[in-house]
Amino acid sequence: MHEAKYQLDQSRAPFLEGLVGYSTEGVIPFHTPGHKQGRRVDSELKDALGFNPFLLDVSDEIFAPDKANDSAAVLREAEALAADAFGAKRSFFLHNGTTAGIQAMLLASSWQFEHGRGDLPKDRPGEVVLPRSVHRSVFGGLVLAGLTPRFVRESWDHTWSIPLPPSPEAWQEAIGEGKGLAAVFDTYPSYYGMGGAVGKTAHLARGVDRPLLVDEAHGAHFRFHPGFPPTALSAGAAAVAQSAHKTLGVLTQASLLHTMDPGFAELMPTVLALLQSTSPSFLLYASLDAGRRQMALDGLELWQRALELAQEARNRINQIPGLLCLGSEVLEKPGVEFWDPTKLLIRVDGLGLSGPESEQRLRQYGIQVELSGLNHILVLITIGDGPEEVNGLVEALRKLASSTEQDAREKMAPLEMPVSGEMLLSPRSAMLSARRQVPFAKAEEEISAGTVTPYPPGIPLLVPGEKITGASLGCLESYWRQGIEIRGWANLGRKTIWVVDDH
Ligand SMILES: Cc1ncc(COP(=O)(O)O)c(C=O)c1O
Repeated sequence: MHEAKYQLDQSRAPFLEGLVGYSTEGVIPFHTPGHKQGRRVDSELKDALGFNPFLLDVSDEIFAPDKANDSAAVLREAEALAADAFGAKRSFFLHNGTTAGIQAMLLASSWQFEHGRGDLPKDRPGEVVLPRSVHRSVFGGLVLAGLTPRFVRESWDHTWSIPLPPSPEAWQEAIGEGKGLAAVFDTYPSYYGMGGAVGKTAHLARGVDRPLLVDEAHGAHFRFHPGFPPTALSAGAAAVAQSAHKTLGVLTQASLLHTMDPGFAELMPTVLALLQSTSPSFLLYASLDAGRRQMALDGLELWQRALELAQEARNRINQIPGLLCLGSEVLEKPGVEFWDPTKLLIRVDGLGLSGPESEQRLRQYGIQVELSGLNHILVLITIGDGPEEVNGLVEALRKLASSTEQDAREKMAPLEMPVSGEMLLSPRSAMLSARRQVPFAKAEEEISAGTVTPYPPGIPLLVPGEKITGASLGCLESYWRQGIEIRGWANLGRKTIWVVDDH
C-alpha cells in the first residue's frame, strides 16, 4: 500500500515534542548524560555540533511529571505511529542499527524453534535458509542465536560484479519441507537496490510454517512511493529490519524493526534488551519520530523528486563515453523481480579504472560515493539531493572520463567471482573455538574463525565455520589489491586472519 491511509494522526511526533518540551522547561538536570545539556562539553565538539544537540541529548528522566516521567510510554506512542505509517502490527525503534534488528529477529526465531522442536534431536541446531551474500551482521546473529546456515543457491552477475537474488526455484529447493528450519532469511533489496520475488519466498516460508525474516536495511523508503518495490511486510514477511538512517532523514544508527507476527511482537522487547544499550540516544529516537512524520506527510512528493532526479542523472551519465549506469534492464537479470531506481550503479571499467580508483579521483573533484566495487561505484539519490548536487555529480564524472587516457582503457584486471567453501562447523562453534592467526595467503584448507569482509558492501568473503578455499583467498587478494577496505583481519599490518586451531 503506497497511498497514505493511516489510522493515527501522523502529524504528531510525540518523542521529538517531549524532548523539545523538556529542553525549554528550564529544569536543572541531575541525571545522565554527564555533559548536563551541554553545560560542560569540549569546545571544539560544541562548535562542530552547535548547542541544540546537547540540549536534546538527555536520558529517560525527561518526560513531564503528568506522564510519571515515563519515557517508555511516549516511546510506545511514537512506535505505534511508526507501525501505522510503515504498515506493521508492531514497530520498535532501534538504537544499534539494523545490525541489532537482524540479530533480534534471529534470536527470536531461535527461541521459537527451541519451543517447537518436536521430535528433532535436542543437539541438532536450528537452521536458517539464506543466501550466502548476506551482510556480516547476519553471521553475528547466527553465532549469537546458535543457528546454522543452509545456503540457497544464488547467481553472480559477471558484468556488474555483484550477487543476484536467488530464484524462487532455488528458494524452494533449499526450504524443502522445512524440517529442522528455524527461519527463512532474505536481503531485500540488496545494497544495489535489486529485489527478488519476496512474495513467493514468503509464500514458501508460510507453506512450511516458518517466518520469513527480511533485512530491508536499504528499503525503509519503499512504503512511501509507488515507484518503489513493494515492502517486504506487504509481501508477507513476518519481520523486517530497516536502516531508516540509510535512506530517510534520520540520524546514523537509528533503525526500525517491524513485525506482523504477534509472537515476535511479544518476544522482541526481551530479545532487544539483550542486544542494545540500556541508555538509548534520545536524539536517535527523536530523529526516527520526525523522519517517520516527514515520510507520512510528505514522502510521496519528496520521493517523486528524488526519482526524477535519479532518472535524469542516469540519462546524463549514460551519455558519458566509457560509463554505464544500470537502468530498468536489470529486471531481465536472473532472480531480479524489483529494483530501486534511486540507486545509481555505475560501471567505470570502460575508463580502464577500478571502482576504488574512480572513488579516489571523484573525491578530488569534490564527490564522495557510497561504495566502490571491483568495476563499479554506487551513488545514492535521496530526498536530500537536488538539481545542484546531480549537476555536480555529472560534471565530476565527465571530468573523470576525460582525464582518463584512451590507451589506459584496456588495462582493467579480469574480475573474479567470490567463491564460498563448505561449512565444516557451525558459525557459533567456529567463533568459540580455540583460534590462531595465519597469513591469509597460507590459510587454504583451514576453517575460518571469523568473518572477513570487503566493506562496503559488508558481504563476507569468509564466514566462521567455512573451509577456506584457494578461490576465496584469490578473491580476497584481488579485492585487497584493488584498494577495497577489508574488515576482519586478525592483524591488519601482517594480513593475518583468524582460523580454527584444533581441526
Ligand atoms: C544489507 C545490509 N544489512 C544490514 C546492514 C547493517 O545495518 P546498520 O548499519 O544499520 O546496522 C547493512 C549496513 O551497511 C547492510 O548494507
